[in-house]
Parts: sequence; structure tokens; C-alpha cells
Amino acid sequence: MNRWAILTSGGDAPGMNTAIWQFAHLAEHYEYTALGIARGFTGLLEGKFTALDERACLSAARRGGTWLGSSRLPDFAEHIEALCQQLKQQEVGGLVVLGGNGSLAAAARLAARGFAVVGIPATIDNDVAPSDDSIGFDTALNSGIRLLDDMRDSAESLPRFFALETLGGDTGFLAQAVAEAGCADLALLPETPLAEDTIFEAIHRAVNQRGYALLVASEGYPQLEAVLTRLSERLGTRLRLSRIGHAQRGGTPSSHDRLLARRLVHKGCEVLTAGGSGVVGTQLGAVRLWSFDNIPSYKPLTSQVVA
Ligand code: F6P
Repeated sequence: MNRWAILTSGGDAPGMNTAIWQFAHLAEHYEYTALGIARGFTGLLEGKFTALDERACLSAARRGGTWLGSSRLPDFAEHIEALCQQLKQQEVGGLVVLGGNGSLAAAARLAARGFAVVGIPATIDNDVAPSDDSIGFDTALNSGIRLLDDMRDSAESLPRFFALETLGGDTGFLAQAVAEAGCADLALLPETPLAEDTIFEAIHRAVNQRGYALLVASEGYPQLEAVLTRLSERLGTRLRLSRIGHAQRGGTPSSHDRLLARRLVHKGCEVLTAGGSGVVGTQLGAVRLWSFDNIPSYKPLTSQVVA
């Protein structure tokens, strides 16, 4: 079967379009027909295949989001037969899946049915184990840092207490990195909820040092608003919360995410030429392939510079 297909699944991530172009480009090089599947696994279920035009893909490669569209299909397992049927009908000899944990779990199920499938971590949350990196994370991190820097301008001018809430789902990788790189006073992470006294003391320390405090919180931090309200009461002044929201998922992909997208897809296509399957990610910066059987279900947070 000389046809390869690619789909983007779950939350979109900057760099997905670069990955789609790299895929179209390499498929041409290896003399495969490159197909795109619209709207992720939902599109696969509906047979939404389209031939990829390398030139059009290149034009989109520098943009955020995913021009193929994405979707979440939580009841994936119920549709497994129909999904396999679509791949067979379209004579797909290799499939690349870009997405987060749920999407790569779905990719693993298809590989277990005998299809050549490569899963590539592409999520701003960077919570796919065991890869250290994920397409989209760096761009989202930079957006977060820019906003934190801007908040600092205001905090320095009219000394106050601010908290910036990042995306990240129920994980703290993004918030932690924004806090560390942006030199915040504290990171509030879902994995390690803090005693309110600890947060209070950190704010006090910061205020004594420079007259203001900047916190970063992940959206998954338990009862964030209630915690901040109680702290405001104790401090006698409002701790103002700004939410980045989905703006953090968009924007022009950074050079890092573009390079990562190209390198991971390059390795993924090599794997497909040999009829192989697995997750392609990075370990200590080097591109690596893991068998779907060796993917841990949980990625632990490491190295916390911000207390
Ligand atoms: O998984 C990526 C992500 O952007 C998370 O950071 C966020 O919690 C979630 O998706 C939001 O999902 P949705 O766009 O479906 O609201």
C-alpha cells in the first residue's frame, strides 16, 4: 500500500501545520501518496480523506492551529472496527497521529490491530510520557512568559499582587515552565497543591523584597479562585487573577516547535518506511522511538526551581 495519512487530534498545538508540511514533503520524497484526514479521529470515522498538496501545506506551515482541523473522540474504543475499516478501504499503509495522551492511546489501539502507526506528542501541555518535549509547548511557554513580563511592568509601577493562570489541563508542566522562565515568586501546580500558609509566606517574602508579588497557576490547581480570595482577605489587598485561556494555544509556532515538528515527523516517516509503529519523541534532546507497549501512563513533574 503506497498511501500514507496524517491526522491532528485533541487540542490544537502550534507547530502542527509545520508537521503536516514535513509529512507531505517526505511522503513525496519516499514516493508515497500523502493524505490528510480532516478533524482527527472523527474525520477518520467519517472517511474525510483529502490528498495533500505539498505547496499548500508549505504555505500553512508557519501558522498556528491545524488547518486539517481536530476533534476529541473519547469513545474511541467503541469505533475501533469502523476506524480500521476506513484505513483498509483507503489502503493506508502508514498513519501519523499528532496529539496528546488520549490521541496517542488511540494510535496505539490501531497499531495493535496491525497498522503501521506513528504517534507524535503535539500538545501545549507537554504531558506525554516519556518524551521530554512536545510540539506546541515552547510556543505556549513563550506566550505565557510574554504576558508575565507585561504583568510585571504593571506590578512594578503600582505595587500589587497578581496571579497568571495558564492552560495545561490537570498538569503543571506549562505553568511551572512559565513561572521558572519568567522568574515568578511561586508556581501553583495541580500535582503539588500547597498549604495556604506556604503561599501566604511566599507572597510576604516577595513583598518585603520588592513590594509586589507575581504568581503563576495552572488552570488545574484545585479551587484556585477560592484560594486566591482567602489569601486576598489575609493580605488585606486584592490578589488579581488573569486567565490566558485559549489564546495560549494559538500563535505563530516558535522556531523550536518548527524544528521539533520537522525532526519528529522525519523520524516518524523513517519508521513508517520500515513498516514500524510507536511513539516518536525526545529524550535529553535526542529524537527517539518508543514501542507503544513501553509508554508510561503518567509523566511526573521534575525539577521545580520555583518553590
Ligand atoms: O490539552 C490541551 C489543552 O489546551 C489544555 O491545556 C486545556 O485544558 C484543554 O486543552 C482545553 O480543551 P478544550 O479546548 O477542549 O476546552
